[in-house]
Amino acid sequence: ALDNGVGRTPPMGWNTWNTFGCNISESLIRQMADAIVSTGMRDAGYQYVVVDDCWFNPNRDSAGNLQGDSSRFPSGMKALGDYLHGKGLKFGLYEAPLDKTCAQYFNSYPGATGSQGHEAQDARQFAAWGVDYLKYDWCSPSGSIGDQVATFAKMRDALAATGRPILYSINSNSVHAKTGPQRNWGDVANIWRTTEDIQLAWDTGQANGYPMGVKNIIDVNVPLSGYARPGGFNDPDMMEVGRGTLSDTEMRSHFSMWAVMAAPLIAGNDIRSMNAATQTILKNTRLIAINQDTLGLQGAQVSYDGTRRVLAKRLADGDVAVALFNQG
Ligand code: GLA
Repeated sequence: ALDNGVGRTPPMGWNTWNTFGCNISESLIRQMADAIVSTGMRDAGYQYVVVDDCWFNPNRDSAGNLQGDSSRFPSGMKALGDYLHGKGLKFGLYEAPLDKTCAQYFNSYPGATGSQGHEAQDARQFAAWGVDYLKYDWCSPSGSIGDQVATFAKMRDALAATGRPILYSINSNSVHAKTGPQRNWGDVANIWRTTEDIQLAWDTGQANGYPMGVKNIIDVNVPLSGYARPGGFNDPDMMEVGRGTLSDTEMRSHFSMWAVMAAPLIAGNDIRSMNAATQTILKNTRLIAINQDTLGLQGAQVSYDGTRRVLAKRLADGDVAVALFNQG
């Protein structure tokens, strides 16, 4: 696994995408940061506030530097990072390794501001803004898995060269053949997406195609348990807890399985308005402790009869956490 000092346990935080998509602004993110603090989410461990796609100006400046979108982020990205750090939180940003981000690829956002050819410059810019977490998203049908490894490694090395500890999150699956589950990406990144995008659904019938339900993601992610270790974790995508539609039982199963699979716990709901049931699930301190155990192991499957799974996760104090999941 990457020995860059971060991601020794799965990262916890919140990301803009699941609820807000491209409709983001500094005022929204500041409000969410305030809510993460006032609801006790920060103190439960949710640290990283990740600004996903669509934060940037569609044009680089005359020196080729990335810039925030000045109408929606008028104070600039450095000021946003300062605000988050002032709240005891950490700052995450999204970029893409080729020419376009996913929103640009799908023409829902203008420009072509991917980091291709700008890796070192962009990494330095992120470090200067105080970024603590980079989500780096392939967003292209092109390239072999070998090309992906080499290209993702460029940004890994560029981040390391800045000297700032920056958690490195990659997604090789977007708009591409699903290479996420085909190798152990722990040599390249701290966390790596194993599946297509999660949606607000339990079972979409997909093996690993768009859109994935919670149950479909579990089917892909469980067999990859041997890859997890401090500094490197399978990423079964951001959580749908508290976004509506899923029942409380389904949300508890979703959260419990993410916890025992040593998944990043990145909330995707609107923290400002979450109800009591959602809070109880997301702030379950005992499940969070299992997820954050310092051995950094992912629960390994000990039995599965096609409906009922048993996963066991060894813990640092010698205990074993056991999950029984009746996915039928
Ligand atoms: C891809 C990623 C999502 C999100 C969007 C943004 O689909 O998998 O998590 O980052 O791009 O456009």
